[in-house]
Amino acid sequence: MKIDNVTLAFKNKIVLRNVDLEIKKWEFVFFIGYSGEGKTSLIRSLIGDFAPERGDIVLDSGAYLYKNMSEKVLLTYRKNIGVIFQDYKLLESKSVYENVAFAMEVCGYRDPYIRKKVPEALEQVGLLIKKDTFVYELSGWEKQRVSIARALVHSPDIIIGDEPTWNLDPHTAHEIMEIFEDLNKDGKTVIIATHDKNIVDSFRKRVVTFKDKEVQSDVEKGKYSLKL
Ligand SMILES: Nc1ncnc2c1ncn2[C@@H]1O[C@H](COP(=O)(O)OP(=O)(O)O)[C@@H](O)[C@H]1O
Ligand SMILES: [Mg+2]
Repeated sequence: MKIDNVTLAFKNKIVLRNVDLEIKKWEFVFFIGYSGEGKTSLIRSLIGDFAPERGDIVLDSGAYLYKNMSEKVLLTYRKNIGVIFQDYKLLESKSVYENVAFAMEVCGYRDPYIRKKVPEALEQVGLLIKKDTFVYELSGWEKQRVSIARALVHSPDIIIGDEPTWNLDPHTAHEIMEIFEDLNKDGKTVIIATHDKNIVDSFRKRVVTFKDKEVQSDVEKGKYSLKL
């Protein structure tokens, strides 16, 4: 996809200015920057949830995300993106299985397909053995695995994580990132917004740094260069 000279704003408050980025299908990209630099807003605009004030988001198909896109094409695009939020957005009083199945039910998938797909997605994140556990009984990193499984049920080509490891210890954070790395090796585009210096420095992927409402740097095999 291409982020073409995008400016994001809430009312008249500019959040990000003139962002130009091209993200290729096979890439793994970190978005880093202090809180409030607009990472979440940019992610929201990439998933079709927040129209830019100026500029365009151009999909690989050549379609413009916010320009004359039919509801149907937008829905297809959204299903092709798996988003992992920092606060999981899980249903605490339901089981692991039910959480993933529910995400499929609301999208209108049929039961036999749900019964086949949910265990597959749970297996992919190593959580099939906990399928009947209630979410409130899980640890943070297990919850994050459930939310990744839920993001995988549409077999998306693009995976976006918004600070998916923010509350995890370094070891489990690393394990979660290895899941994303495997998904990238399977050919999925991965975009991860993060503050986690350890993670960024140990995975050595493309690093886009947002600073002062702009892209400050964009480095292949980069490191976390913001001073904390
Ligand atoms: N719904 C909203 N309405 C108004 N301002 C918002 C809204 N969401 C975020 N902002 C503002 O936009 C800026 C960027 O926020 P955000 O995209 O969440 O940054 P980050 O994810 O990098 O911490 C912040 O100043 C934030 O207060
Ligand atoms: Mg954020």
